[in-house]
Amino acid sequence: MRSPDLEAILLVGGQGTRLRPLTLRTPKPLLPTAGVPFLAHQLAKARAHGVRRVVFATSYRASMFTEVFGDGSDLGLEIVYMTEETPLGTGGAIRNAAAALTCPPESPVLVLNGDILSGHDIAAQVGLHVSRGAAVTLHLTEVADASRFGCVPTGADGRVTAFLEKMANPVTNRINAGCYVFQRSVIDTIPAGQVVSVERETFPSLIEAGELVLGFADSSYWLDVGTPAAFVQGSADLVLGRLDSPALPGPAGEFLLMDGAVVSPEAKVTGGTVVGRRATVEAGASVRGSVLADDCVVASGATVVDSVVGTGARVAAGAVLRQVVVGDEAQIGPGNELMSGVRVWPGVRLPECSVRFSSDV
Ligand code: GTP
Repeated sequence: MRSPDLEAILLVGGQGTRLRPLTLRTPKPLLPTAGVPFLAHQLAKARAHGVRRVVFATSYRASMFTEVFGDGSDLGLEIVYMTEETPLGTGGAIRNAAAALTCPPESPVLVLNGDILSGHDIAAQVGLHVSRGAAVTLHLTEVADASRFGCVPTGADGRVTAFLEKMANPVTNRINAGCYVFQRSVIDTIPAGQVVSVERETFPSLIEAGELVLGFADSSYWLDVGTPAAFVQGSADLVLGRLDSPALPGPAGEFLLMDGAVVSPEAKVTGGTVVGRRATVEAGASVRGSVLADDCVVASGATVVDSVVGTGARVAAGAVLRQVVVGDEAQIGPGNELMSGVRVWPGVRLPECSVRFSSDV
């Protein structure tokens, strides 16, 4: 199903603090994910569902988006940019970006968070919105533990009844999945030129005012790539084909090798790993479910699992990384073992580690 020539607003102005140090130089939506900038996956999907014109709501490192996507013609889209001098929050950003829309007030407008991978049917979400004459239709997804998120209960007719903050015992496992269809006229009611949160202000006040806010619930693939663990998982899932993406630059499989990547036949590369341009994996190294950026090196006998190794970084012989982020140009000396959640800042050099614990032998 495809909606006719839909306009979209893409929210990409956040600082991506949870993904530092990866986002110190590159905004989260541009981080290489399964071999291409993250947004390429979202944009290809949006186009496949009828989107033809996208307004990027930028703020943090705004010029980098223009450098990567230009006017969008390479993707068969028209892309325009609206930049906030100081971030206006999700609602303020949508209001600001709406000035660049061309559609009339009664049209639906798709709004996407720029850090979500989703297999849901956007055109069906738009179809539900239009057929029910809703003010806003929210994509809702089910998670095992909703206590880490705000939850979104709905009535039997799909009407959203509340937008609840995080709580210990959530009343439903359905959460806001970060993809909305707004009636354009509703965007125009968000106050202009000030910081507004759609989650904390706009949606609760629309519900309070009795406007029809609908939930479009489904159980397709969904992932918010806002944390390092989720980011690596998202990239691996795309490479493995757990989520189809028209932007994947190669066939789905255990690994994806970018141009000039060199992997020794005696290395083991699995679990949806991407090996970046000119990156090297030496003999005896084992890399699983990881993102190796361009020009990095994983030396002989090193182990890298569920981790990100930044551009030009080096993981020396025998080092072990599990759930770790190594910043660009950093060097991990031989024998180091880095675990769960460790982040090494760009350019840092960890010297050789010769200490061995008794449990290791
Ligand atoms: P963290 O700092 O790690 O929480 O990440 P973030 O800055 O991306 O924030 P969050 O994940 O809550 O943002 C959800 C989406 O909204 C992302 O796509 C952000 O880029 C975007 N976003 C958040 N705040 C703003 C803003 O003030 N302006 C714009 N244009 N986009 C925003």
